[in-house]
Amino acid sequence: MELTRRKFLEFMGRSALAMGTMPVWSGCTTTSKSTLPFKSLKPTTADKVILADGFDHSILIQWGDTINKAGQPFGFNNDFLACMPIAESSTGDFVLWVNHESPDPLFLTGGYHKGIGRTKQQVIKEQSIVGGSLVRVMKNSVTGRYEWVKNDPLNRRLDATTKIPFKWPHSIAGAKAAVGTLANCAGGTTPWGTVLTCEENSENFFGILRIDEKGNRTISPSYIDYGWNKFFDYPPEHYSWVVEVNPMTGDAHKLVSLGRFAHECATVTVGSTGQAIVYSGDDLSGGCLYKFISKKPNDLSEGTLFAADFKAGRWIPLDRERTPSLKERFKSQTELLIQTRTAASLVGATPLDRPEDIEIDPATKAVFVTQTNNKATSNFYGSVTKIVEKNGDPLSLTFESSTFLAGGTESGFACPDNLVFDARGNLWFTSDISGHEAGSREYKPFGNNGLFYVPLSGRDAGRVFKVASAPFGAEFTGPVFTPDGKTLLLAVQHPGEDSVFPDVVTSHWPDGGTSLPRPAVIAISGPSLDKLLS
Ligand code: FEO
Ligand code: CA
Ligand code: CA
Ligand code: CA
Repeated sequence: MELTRRKFLEFMGRSALAMGTMPVWSGCTTTSKSTLPFKSLKPTTADKVILADGFDHSILIQWGDTINKAGQPFGFNNDFLACMPIAESSTGDFVLWVNHESPDPLFLTGGYHKGIGRTKQQVIKEQSIVGGSLVRVMKNSVTGRYEWVKNDPLNRRLDATTKIPFKWPHSIAGAKAAVGTLANCAGGTTPWGTVLTCEENSENFFGILRIDEKGNRTISPSYIDYGWNKFFDYPPEHYSWVVEVNPMTGDAHKLVSLGRFAHECATVTVGSTGQAIVYSGDDLSGGCLYKFISKKPNDLSEGTLFAADFKAGRWIPLDRERTPSLKERFKSQTELLIQTRTAASLVGATPLDRPEDIEIDPATKAVFVTQTNNKATSNFYGSVTKIVEKNGDPLSLTFESSTFLAGGTESGFACPDNLVFDARGNLWFTSDISGHEAGSREYKPFGNNGLFYVPLSGRDAGRVFKVASAPFGAEFTGPVFTPDGKTLLLAVQHPGEDSVFPDVVTSHWPDGGTSLPRPAVIAISGPSLDKLLS
């Protein structure tokens, strides 16, 4: 029986509620014939981008490219991508925003990861390749391929040296502005044409900050320690915010209102009142899910931050004027927002299994959240959680949740991370098995990381299909469709990240031979994609 999409979702919604947190769809990759124009890829550890039948790809831009006349480099380890249409243009060209999450000292400066043996010159070089790139992209009318425009006046960099003010009435650790943005993982876009870039694991650069009940600060090194704080004494309080960027001018500010934690993403929708709602996860084992409701339309500088209590299905305000325990613990709302994790824990928000990307189903308004894994609780494979706000209203303060997809050998994927819906309303996601674990131990059955497609209607609804396999050690990140909806842009991040010595690397993608690996952005198209989107 062929169900319509709406009826199918209603059916699945009821099933999900009946099953509580049981997996709704365990998926199926190869066992029965599908109606799709391609076969799901089998797991592989090959060091290349492999695509299913009828898909092809080209490299759009990569580490090593110089983007503008100032000689600024396209950054390293690209993650979130956003296509920002140029208002006055009628040719469909756009400005591409690219997050650059981290350096790899092994490939960049020959330094050791753990903060040992670093020099100031190495750190200065690394500061120039994190943050974000803005690059103008146009379609070549002859080849039909997207190409970036060298030296376009819109090509800019924000990096770890860019002065970025806090959009907040009070100082943060004694300053009105931070030096730089870094650890830029995923993000979001706003209906008013700005990019939100999320500072995730900033502790790798400036240490883990702890503030006790008396306000005493201690800073300790993180497991991955780039050792920047040995040369630049910048306060950790200046990082792990959401940064709003105007992609046409490069102007940026840090949004204190959205809280400070390992922000994976910032996913925006608009309520019936015009207020903006932003969902964001704290990518930490035991990290929480947050929702922000703005005070005014088109402005994220003021509003209320909430943390999710999944047991009771409610959003708890993190507002010291509304909660005595928060008022007792924090001297000001600024102090509370700097220590958002502590505040969420105090009010009983639910610890999750590393919440990463969030997308809103355009058809049903359900909120999908990936939880990558939680090795501390032997959750190796992760899941995709579905949240339905009461009455489908993002302004609602109560919700229901269920597990939408469960990772594992049956479903054929592990460690879901980034999500994107296509123009037909079907779901795509990428996986993030750590580079040093891909293809081994619990992750052996999955091979390299991949890009997966999940139809949400028709005979294949809920099945998981692997469309692309990443080079060795890499994860695919930042999936986004071009403004015409027909080409999928994807970042290839950290190929060969498990390499220990620069002359013995585990990936040579994309150049092959004995070359060092290069993170890059690729463009995926082809007849199979055309069929899926038609
Ligand atoms: Fe940077 Fe949570 O991935
Ligand atoms: Ca991620
Ligand atoms: Ca996304
Ligand atoms: Ca991840």
